[in-house]
Amino acid sequence: MRVDVVTIFPEYLAALDLSLVGKARASGLLDLRVHDLRAWTTDRHRTVDDSPLGGGAGMVMRPDVWGLAVDEVLAGAAGAGAGAGDVELVVPTPSGEVFTQRTAERLAGVPHVVVACGRYEGIDARVVEHYRASGVRVTELSLGDYVLNGGEVAALVVVEAVARLLPGVVGNPHSLVEESHGVAGLLEYPVYTRPPSWRGHDVPDVLLSGHHARIERWRRDRAIERTAERRPDLLRRLAPEALDRADRAALEAVGWTVGPDGPVPADPRGS
Ligand code: ADE
Repeated sequence: MRVDVVTIFPEYLAALDLSLVGKARASGLLDLRVHDLRAWTTDRHRTVDDSPLGGGAGMVMRPDVWGLAVDEVLAGAAGAGAGAGDVELVVPTPSGEVFTQRTAERLAGVPHVVVACGRYEGIDARVVEHYRASGVRVTELSLGDYVLNGGEVAALVVVEAVARLLPGVVGNPHSLVEESHGVAGLLEYPVYTRPPSWRGHDVPDVLLSGHHARIERWRRDRAIERTAERRPDLLRRLAPEALDRADRAALEAVGWTVGPDGPVPADPRGS
């Protein structure tokens, strides 16, 4: 997979040399290139922004500079054999759709992703409009309901979340299956390692029992409990068909019942 990140702070992306993503780059599973947007400026001051038309606070990133940058990065990959349908332009912005594990899974199947990191009040809206109109898939992504200083942290998040899904990047692919936000739609159960007793806190007996079916049941019960407590919005999205009798008992124990559309609080006044 190829990923190009365009930013005015290329150093921000240095963290992608580390750990699993760094290894994926070194082994060629991930062809990640970071570009300095200012390389496409044409004036002496290397200006990338201007004041907002219509007035208001802050500065807006110029469409002409972004256009030159994105054109060149797209052409570079096209030269390397990627077709127009193989590329997606990702623009991090707090006004985008929320980035989720489903987005990461989808992007992991895209041969070429270009991440355009905006700063200040964002990138002139015509940039997204232009590439959409030219047939490039463009996705504006938000990490969540808070405002960062720019798209660089989001680029780090997107690259890490996507890269670890590429075959061969994570050593044990099973660890991708059970983790939080995986296909089960539940948060991950709590995990423990040695020693079995630490500062008076003991690891639950069942995990030391060697009884795999019971361990699996215990983990799923804890996952249900946690999700009910921390992310009831996720619980509501579970399909009733995906819930067996034991799941339903676990839900009941934390005050939920399974309706025709999925789990709902047993006492609606408590929801
Ligand atoms: N840029 C600024 N805030 C952001 C957010 N919440 N998500 C993605 N990009 C951003």
